[in-house]
Amino acid sequence: MKIVTAVTVRVPAKLNLQLAVGPRRADGYHDLVTVFHAVSLFDEITAKPASRDGVAVSGEGADRVPADRDNLALRAVAALRAVLPGAPKVHITITKRIPVAAGLAGGSADAAAALVACNELWDGGLGQPQLLEIAARVGSDVAFALLGGTAVGRGRGERLTPALAPATQYHWVLAFADGQLSTPEVYAALDRLRAARADGAAGLFPAVPTLDTGLMSALRSGDARLVGRALSNDLQPAALSLFPALRKTLAAGLELGALGALVSGSGPTCVFLAASADRALDLAASLSGAGVCRSVARASGPVPGAAVVSAAR
Ligand code: C5P
Repeated sequence: MKIVTAVTVRVPAKLNLQLAVGPRRADGYHDLVTVFHAVSLFDEITAKPASRDGVAVSGEGADRVPADRDNLALRAVAALRAVLPGAPKVHITITKRIPVAAGLAGGSADAAAALVACNELWDGGLGQPQLLEIAARVGSDVAFALLGGTAVGRGRGERLTPALAPATQYHWVLAFADGQLSTPEVYAALDRLRAARADGAAGLFPAVPTLDTGLMSALRSGDARLVGRALSNDLQPAALSLFPALRKTLAAGLELGALGALVSGSGPTCVFLAASADRALDLAASLSGAGVCRSVARASGPVPGAAVVSAAR
């Protein structure tokens, strides 16, 4: 057997085409029903043997990623080692293209990529079901970054069912904001907004989250127009309350002809669905000229989850 000396894994960002949020649970999390969708904006991570565990981060927003034990990729390494005792030390290099704290699950993506890379580097032999279980312990969105495609998430978002959808590719424009939002703060803002609306009866509002059957049938039809109309995010009012400038960004994209617009996850990235790759190109150019965001990117989806792109021997 040849020894693997470096493994590189590519992992996508996620959007939530629906994000239905239930009341806060006793453990601080919220029960969700969400439709995850992986798009072609990728981070890359490389794992190599080292004398001690470490991480180095470069690229988009690298200075805001913790390079210590709080790094989600290193936490994933520790979670995997708990299942593969005696696994050697490893150095992780992360090249970021997914913006940090942007509602695109970039940190979770890096954790998923670290699991795949170390499983390969250590010849761990774990299959996807085992990796999904470990992923769910590391963070709510990590399991989906392993799976990719389009999938319904329940529980904290970690219980996944792949969506049976046709091979339609959707064309997205992502508007990156000049700033960040903290996921726990956005959930807390939602709890406050709901408590105020329910006249102080926190916990009674809202009902149990349910899957939007309209969105699911739109996805089955492969009709981008229908999908655009069915996009929804319960966290959006909370994100807008903390980052009011996003209203302008969403309105600008719709005015410029997007089929649908929403805040991605806990934000502040805004995403727009375009009718075709050409329309996405036009929309991206117009949005970046409109001065309503820091920068724009185009991405298509669905794409597969974390996958090995090279293994040096
Ligand atoms: O699981 P993860 O570490 O990604 O979650 C980050 C934070 O987002 C949690 O600490 C919690 O405040 C919030 N969250 C939540 N309900 C979920 C997922 C995340 O309240 N289903």
